Amino acid sequence: MTEPITGNGTAKAADAAWWRQAVVYQIYPRSFADANGDGLGDLPGITSRADYLADLGVDAVWLSPFYPSALADGGYDVDDYRDVDPRLGTLDDFDVMIKALHDKGIKLIADIVPNHSSNRHEWFRAALAAPKGSPERDRYVFRDGLGEHGEAPPADWTCMFGGPAWTAVGDGQWYLHLFAPEQPDLNWRSEEVRADFLKTLRFWSDRGVDGFRVDVAHALAKHLPPDLPSEAELAAMDRATGTHLLWDRDEVHDIYADWRRVFDEYDPPRIAVAEAWVDPPARRARYASAEGLGQAFNFDLLEADFAADAFRPIITDNLEQAADSGSSTTWVFSNHDVIRHATRYGLPPNGDEPRKHGRAWLLSGGTEPELDVAAGLRRARAATLLMLALPGSAYLYQGEELGLGEVASIPDADRQDPTFFRSPGVDVGRDGCRVPIPWAADGPSFGFGDGGAHLPQPEWFGRYAAAVQADDPASTLALYREALALRRELQTAETLAWIPSGAEVLHVRRDNGWEAVTNFGAEPVALPEGDVLLSSGPLDGRQLPPETTVWLRA
Ligand code: NOJ
Repeated sequence: MTEPITGNGTAKAADAAWWRQAVVYQIYPRSFADANGDGLGDLPGITSRADYLADLGVDAVWLSPFYPSALADGGYDVDDYRDVDPRLGTLDDFDVMIKALHDKGIKLIADIVPNHSSNRHEWFRAALAAPKGSPERDRYVFRDGLGEHGEAPPADWTCMFGGPAWTAVGDGQWYLHLFAPEQPDLNWRSEEVRADFLKTLRFWSDRGVDGFRVDVAHALAKHLPPDLPSEAELAAMDRATGTHLLWDRDEVHDIYADWRRVFDEYDPPRIAVAEAWVDPPARRARYASAEGLGQAFNFDLLEADFAADAFRPIITDNLEQAADSGSSTTWVFSNHDVIRHATRYGLPPNGDEPRKHGRAWLLSGGTEPELDVAAGLRRARAATLLMLALPGSAYLYQGEELGLGEVASIPDADRQDPTFFRSPGVDVGRDGCRVPIPWAADGPSFGFGDGGAHLPQPEWFGRYAAAVQADDPASTLALYREALALRRELQTAETLAWIPSGAEVLHVRRDNGWEAVTNFGAEPVALPEGDVLLSSGPLDGRQLPPETTVWLRA
C-alpha cells in the first residue's frame, strides 16, 4: 500500500499529497449561512463561519456550485463558469472567502460542472439563435427530430430527473439533456468546449482554488450514432467495457489527461475528485489515476445499511482498489443528493434502490414507515467514528456534524428540486437535505440569516443548532470536533489491519496502534484491551454497548 504522507521525503511531496487523507466538508452555499439576510446563503456567510470550520477541524471545504444560475437544479445549471452568482456575492467576496479559509489552513475545492451548462449560458442562447448545423449548435448535442417535420424526439430516452431527455427548439431540431431541460449537455468533441474548460480551471486555480470536484465526470464523452437506440436498448448496453454510448466511455480519460496537465502547472498541483457512478467499481481506477483526476468518489458506504457484513467488504474492497490505482479512497455517508444518514439509519434497511433509501418515507411526509430518531443518530455517530478511523479521505456534508436529520415536512409549494417536478407522486427529491442549517436555538432562520430561509426549517431544527451543541460535551458537534482533532494527531500510513472479532463487530487497527471497534449488534460486547480515546456513545465499563464505536490505543 501507499507510503504515509510523512514518508515521502520532502515537504513539497507532503504538501502535494495533502488530499490523500483529508477531511473535506461540503458546503451547499445557498443553505449554509446568509450574511445579507435575503434568505439565500452566500459567500460572506461562509467567510463569517471560517472560525467554526477551523474549530471543527476540517482540512478542506468542497463548495457546491456558487456560479450565476437560475437554480433549475440547485446551481448545477451554470450560466457562467467564471463568475459568482450575484445573490451569493462577487468575485471579490470569493477572494475574501478563500483568504479567510486559507488563513485557517483550510483548502478549497470548487465544484465544476462540465457535462452541461445551463440554458441561460451565452453559448446556449447563441445556439438557439443560430441555424441548424452552425458552429454555435456544435457546442451542444443537437439532433433532427423524427417525423416529417422533426416533431418527434430523436429517441425515447428519459433524463435522470424523469421525463424526456430531448427537448425541441422549434425548428425541427432537439437538444440532449441527461438532466433537466435547463441543463443542455455540452459536446465534448468540440475543441472550443475543451479549451474553454481549461481556461475555467486556470481561472479558479489562479484565484487560489486548491482542487475541483467534477460533476458527472463519467458522462462527458458520448458517441451518438446516426440511428439512435431506444431507451430499452440503451439500458441493456454493457457499461463495463468503456463503449456505452453515454456513460463511462474510455475516451473521457483523454479529457482528464488534458486537465491533469493544467493541474500540474500549479504548485502544489491542483487536485480533483470525480463524481463517477461507474460499474464495476474497478472502472473508478482510471478516474482516480495520477494521469487523470487523481481521486474518485466511492459511494458504497452511502448505499449500505448499518451492518457489519455490509461495511466490511466495502472497506476492504475500496482500500484495495484505491491502492491499485495509486490513489486514496473517499468515504461519504451524506451529501446534497441523498437523505441524511442520521435519518436513513433510523428507517428500515434499504430496498432495491439504495440511492433512493428513504424515498417512500419522504413521499409520506415522514410518517411511513416510522422513523426511530434516536437509533438513527446513534448509528450515524457510530458509523462516522468508524469512517474517520479509516485510511483515505472523509467527505462530510454540512449539518451532519450536528446530527441533523432529513426534513420531510416541506410543503409542495416550497419545493425546488427538479426531481419533484418531473416525477410527480414518485419522488419528492432532495430538498430535505438542503434546508438551511441551524446555527442558533431560535431567532430568524435559527441563525442562518436575518431574513427567512429559502427552504422552510422545521421547529425541531432549534434543538440541533450549533450554538446549543457547542458547549455540550455529549453533543454530536463535540464528537466531530474531538474526532477530527484526534484524527489529525493519529493519522498515519494508509494501511489497515483487521483484528478478528465477532460477526457483528468490526475491529480495525492502524499501524501506530490506533484502533476502532464498532459493535453493530444489539447486545453489548467486551471492550478489547487498550486506552479509550473516544466513543460515539456512553460506554458501560469495559463493555461496548450496541451500535457504538470506540477508538482505542493499544
Ligand atoms: C450530480 C450533482 O451532485 C447533483 O446534485 C446534480 O443534480 C447532478 N449531478 C447534475 O448536475
